[in-house]
Amino acid sequence: MLVLGIETTCDETAAAVVERADDGRGAILANVVLSQLTQHAAFGGVVPEIAARAHVEALDLIIATAMADAGRSFASLDGIAAAAGPGLIGGVIVGLTTAKAIALVHEKPLIAVNHLEAHALTARLTDATPFPFCLFLASGGHTQVVAVRGVGDYVRLGTTRDDAIGEAFDKIAKLVGLGYPGGPRVEAEAVRGDRGRFALPRPMIGRPDADFSLSGLKTALRLEAEKIAPLSDQDVADLCASFQLAVVEMVVDRLRQGLRIFRQRFGAPSALVAAGGVAANQAIRDAMLDVALQDEVELVVPPPALCTDNGAMIAWAGAERLAHGLCDTLDTAPRARWPLDEVAKPAAAAGPPRPVPVEQVSAEPAAAQIPPDAALPASAPE
Ligand code: KG4
Ligand code: ZN
Repeated sequence: MLVLGIETTCDETAAAVVERADDGRGAILANVVLSQLTQHAAFGGVVPEIAARAHVEALDLIIATAMADAGRSFASLDGIAAAAGPGLIGGVIVGLTTAKAIALVHEKPLIAVNHLEAHALTARLTDATPFPFCLFLASGGHTQVVAVRGVGDYVRLGTTRDDAIGEAFDKIAKLVGLGYPGGPRVEAEAVRGDRGRFALPRPMIGRPDADFSLSGLKTALRLEAEKIAPLSDQDVADLCASFQLAVVEMVVDRLRQGLRIFRQRFGAPSALVAAGGVAANQAIRDAMLDVALQDEVELVVPPPALCTDNGAMIAWAGAERLAHGLCDTLDTAPRARWPLDEVAKPAAAAGPPRPVPVEQVSAEPAAAQIPPDAALPASAPE
């Protein structure tokens, strides 16, 4: 099954072609990512209007490049997938509308992919990780511990009560003058800093849930920085190191709780899986390894380029959904907000099938069953 995937929910314009074999194995044939970093850097964060316009300008070429890299024609595709949310709505509209046009012209199924589901399923593309597994998704917009039980079957075990971890890294970077994007810069500074210099709080540690909270930590760091301003290079490094240590210790405690809750509710997970840009952080990766070793569960961390936003994860999620007979109508709406637990399940898990004809116009986005004559390769749901 060959699927084109389009990602435009934030500041990366990306397209990829991915193949899913009948045995469920995945292969990336092309994966093209254009970062808009330079367009947003001067503003210290992503500007939604600039992002949407940049997606419009770049997307056609990015898709053409992905198709050329893959050496395949549109006619050979089995489906066109696009991230339909959650994300910055202008960008989501660009990607989803483009996917609809390609699907319409080439008479292919459209798969409107939830961006978080795509992060969640990436480990199955890279490592063929079987269900169920425990996902730690940490990016600029999300921090969640999720039980991934099957395609379309997600239970959120924990989430942040305020900032996402990546967002906190970005804000700290701005505060100490490191610019945007903050995560990699804070990590680089932390390497040469004294992580014991500032006694920062460890929010949430010891609580029986698996939730996160970053805002108190961020405020504490700001107060410490204000006390010693103006900051020397060493002050900046020490602040970054102290902040990163506090985050790491929170992550360790929260993941232990998450795994405990997972086992209680669903039995043993096949793996602890990392996803999202924050998983590129080596200290956080090391901490996850400690948790996994102690919990005697395998750790799966996809390569950094597949942890951050990319088209391959969208194409793969599209292929996984298509293999379960799920596709979407051309009137599917883009969504700024779209919690994982609202993602449509395959019919077998969701109850009796409810076919939705392509012509049907509805206000709500709908998951459609592929009509029996769509001639898709047979594949059994897991
Ligand atoms: O998943 P992603 O590429 O985009 C979304 O937010 O969906 O994640 C980007 C986030 C940013 O907040 C960035 O600062 C953070 O991931 N990040 C990091 C590192 N690399 C990226 N945070 C900590 N350490 C890093 N090395
Ligand atoms: Zn993302």
